[in-house]
Amino acid sequence: MKGYLIENVTMIPVDGRVSWTVGDIAVAGDRILETGEGLGAKYPELARVSGKDRLALPGLVNCHTHCAMTLLRGYADDLPLMEWLETKIFPREAHLNGEDVYWASMLAMLEMIKGGTTAFADMYYFMEETAKAAAESGIRAVLSRGLTCTDGGGAGRLEENVELARNWHGKAEGRITVMLGPHAPYTTTADYLKEVIAAADEHGLGLHIHLSETQAEVGQIRERYGMGSVEWMESIGLFEGRHVLAAHCVVISPEEREILVQRGVGVAHNPQSNLKLASGVAPVPELLSAGGLVGLGTDGASSNNDLDMFEEMRACAMIHKGVRLDPTLLPASQVLDMATRQGARVAGLDRTGSIQAGYKADLILLNLRKPHLTPMYDPVSHCVYAVHAEDVDTVWVDGKMLMKGREMLAVDEEKILYEAGRRGNDLIRR
Ligand code: NI
Repeated sequence: MKGYLIENVTMIPVDGRVSWTVGDIAVAGDRILETGEGLGAKYPELARVSGKDRLALPGLVNCHTHCAMTLLRGYADDLPLMEWLETKIFPREAHLNGEDVYWASMLAMLEMIKGGTTAFADMYYFMEETAKAAAESGIRAVLSRGLTCTDGGGAGRLEENVELARNWHGKAEGRITVMLGPHAPYTTTADYLKEVIAAADEHGLGLHIHLSETQAEVGQIRERYGMGSVEWMESIGLFEGRHVLAAHCVVISPEEREILVQRGVGVAHNPQSNLKLASGVAPVPELLSAGGLVGLGTDGASSNNDLDMFEEMRACAMIHKGVRLDPTLLPASQVLDMATRQGARVAGLDRTGSIQAGYKADLILLNLRKPHLTPMYDPVSHCVYAVHAEDVDTVWVDGKMLMKGREMLAVDEEKILYEAGRRGNDLIRR
């Protein structure tokens, strides 16, 4: 049996029962075999990994991002969403090619793996390139092609997304799954959304959509259809009988919140992107207390401007406290759950996001020998309020070690930095 035994390690299983414990983690193939004390005698054949000064966590799940936007990191800041998109981002994106997207995706995956993110959900274009990069880098990926129809090109894009599913759904040892990606209410029509829904059901795929992100979007949808974005989607039947990942859900009424909860929609909360674009603060405490399913995402690197899920956890834990003047909201344990176990459910990933027997061996080890992590009374608190992405020491996805002692094992870090840097500088001059 090939695998690893992480010995005598402090771990946060995120299994809904134990906050943290100390023991061994046995991994074989792509799964966690068992956790517990003194497993060494039972599994003599597994390669030993010392847990000394380490903290084991399930890998973080970034529920909403756009990998290729790493090339536009820091290119345009401090603008309103529509102006930012229309005058800065869209004109540059028009010049992107497949090779750019491949290297930008590699850069995003390098950053995510080095920061402890082991799975992500993405919506963009040239997605075959992102899929190729995910297959090579070893990360887990949930990919969709952004589907817009207002320029008349909707049918071709839908066909591309279906083709992406044919080529990649369940591929790369099952690490890659595909969803259809209706972009947003303001870039689609009811007829087009119905076509997307029909295609999703025909091929058994989930949907990934931007939903109720800004006041401007919801104002526009109200003007056109006399209801909010979530209500409009409900009227079209988007949430009925299939998995839906909805990013943002910032501007929603109490009735719409109830629709999201009742339909089991997975909400990707992107606090830093929402703050940076001044979109507002999503009603996450209400969604959670109503039983809603909420994960965390960074959104693209041009509205964040990094893909650091530890920062995202910290922002999530703090923003709701500050806005509601209530320090008991979004405690560390709940935020860590959102970033791992709940996030995996939001992204439609089965048996992922928790350290327990039978779950996917997507694991990270943090290095605790750091001034800012000393002393440690509560590991859960540290993960949300004190850990930095650079504290991630070792990363496994699907039982395969992708980083050891911060050294990348599956990809050539220097080459990615060189190619992505060069292409970014070229892109903004095209
Ligand atoms: Ni987005």
